[in-house]
Amino acid sequence: MDRTFVMVKPDGVARGLTGHIVSRFEEKGFKLAAAKLMQLDRMVAEEHYDHLRSKVFFDELVDFITSGPVFAMVLEGKDAVKNARSLIGATNPSDALPGTIRGDYAIDVASNIIHGSDSEDNAEREINLYFH
Ligand code: TYD
Repeated sequence: MDRTFVMVKPDGVARGLTGHIVSRFEEKGFKLAAAKLMQLDRMVAEEHYDHLRSKVFFDELVDFITSGPVFAMVLEGKDAVKNARSLIGATNPSDALPGTIRGDYAIDVASNIIHGSDSEDNAEREINLYFH
């Protein structure tokens, strides 16, 4: 079965959207295979976003993602990476269509409430980083 890694970011957890977001994936047809509420340390956060180290927003991104608990999940389903990204919506909530999670619940790219792996290789890398 295909699988992907999805994480409710600190803003989503703080706003009480975790259960709602899990339901959105379950309603779509995903199976929740693993999940945990956790506090990221900077090393894990920097490893997760390693591909963005050169970006001007990198330090702010690491500050944000370590600012409070996150809810990390492994989701199973057909074409899991692609289907989860479709449900999550565009990176910038201003571009995310209504009906997507970012389109419905976020307004600012810096706090876009949810992460989902963008490739099958990254899904495996992120699952190993968070669930080992
Ligand atoms: P990225 O991996 O490009 O997008 P996605 O999360 O959709 O896979 O970026 C990671 C996170 O970095 C993104 O979710 C929000 C943050 N970010 C900013 O804060 N500012 C920006 O200009 C971009 C592109 C991303």
